[in-house]
Amino acid sequence: MSSSQSPNRRVGPLPAELPEPEPEAQEHSIRLIELIRHELAQSGGRMPFDRFMELALYAPGLGYYTAGARKFGEAGDFVTAPEISPLFARCLARQCQQLLEELEGGDLLEVGAGTGALATDLLLELEALQKLPQHYFILEVSPDLQQRQRETLMARAAHLIDRVEWLDAMPEPGFTGVVIANELLDAMPVSRFKMAESGVQEGFVRWADDAFEHYWGESVSPGLVDTVAALQEQVGRFDSGYESELNLRAGPWLQSLAQRIERGAVVLIDYGYPCSEYYHPQRNMGTLMCHYRHRAHDEPLILPGLQDITAHVDFTAVAKAGLDVGFALKGYATQAHFLLGCGLDSLLMNSDPNDIKNHVTLMQAVKRLTMPTEMGERFKAIALSKGIESSLIGFSLRDLSGRL
Ligand SMILES: C[S@@+](CC[C@H](N)C(=O)[O-])C[C@H]1O[C@@H](n2cnc3c(N)ncnc32)[C@H](O)[C@@H]1O
Repeated sequence: MSSSQSPNRRVGPLPAELPEPEPEAQEHSIRLIELIRHELAQSGGRMPFDRFMELALYAPGLGYYTAGARKFGEAGDFVTAPEISPLFARCLARQCQQLLEELEGGDLLEVGAGTGALATDLLLELEALQKLPQHYFILEVSPDLQQRQRETLMARAAHLIDRVEWLDAMPEPGFTGVVIANELLDAMPVSRFKMAESGVQEGFVRWADDAFEHYWGESVSPGLVDTVAALQEQVGRFDSGYESELNLRAGPWLQSLAQRIERGAVVLIDYGYPCSEYYHPQRNMGTLMCHYRHRAHDEPLILPGLQDITAHVDFTAVAKAGLDVGFALKGYATQAHFLLGCGLDSLLMNSDPNDIKNHVTLMQAVKRLTMPTEMGERFKAIALSKGIESSLIGFSLRDLSGRL
């Protein structure tokens, strides 16, 4: 350990506002803690934060996403747009319809499909629009969620299940069609950095006094120091003590997609900002957030395997990484503008106002999906493409690409 390494936050007992996990959940978490401690012991007593986050979320059979935690919905830890209302999928279906028409057919690939709600509603809407893709591929790291996706599809769209195929890896090169991912990038492990007098430090995790703790040390993750240097050229120098995080995995993920896509588009929806807002001098503690039983807090080292850990998305970095690997940037907009551009208002107008219950449910969903105080502005949509000529309908109302 170099002298520049210093302990940071100590993880004590659960913050008072968080409910105690059930004994079974605690046992589960202890098994994951043991696994992480075992890896720590084998790697000199510390691991970069992104590796801790990877294990906490995706350790086989034990991670938050890879084991049986409820996660989605009112009984889980958080709610996503496809879970709020089928309106989200119905709008996205219209964007897919436009793309599939230009491509004269093709496949869909959804990455990180959660409960399968988006896949189900998207397929049903594309069927209604007579624009079903040949295949609906799902790339999902969690066997537990793959099972839930299959159950959701069987319950609500069994007649379309033959089109659905779960992949173990990216599709073969030659893919033509549309790739979609809602709240995937925010679930990728991120690296933490801090500006010290001596230069850029990286965030690590170690075990001390019966708890995981953060500490800062000389960076070991390839690309971290260079990426922070490049960021400072864009947004200005960070003050000493400035902390934030970087998603070093999104670029290679996009590169791998670019190698597979012959023609088509990638539509990513997530919460985040352009780099000038993300790395604003006042946002000097980064954007890491944890969700447990619908409570949000900022301590990722507690409740391993029981809580979600996320970071906002730097959409400037996503656009730049996309351009670097040969995609064109087709648009960037708030979720509200994207959904309205795809025809959200006409879907609402077509609902029968005499069916009061249904109409009110739809209106409430529209509010949650589009109001600036809800998901409307915090969430953004970005589209990257290869060999697509048309302007995309999702960005027809407003395209904020110039802000990236
Ligand atoms: C926050 S959830 C979002 C789920 C869903 N898209 C929704 O909006 O409800 C993140 C999803 O991405 C999956 N995931 C995370 N990293 C992945 C990766 N590299 N490849 C495929 N799936 C991934 C998780 O297992 C989970 O299904």
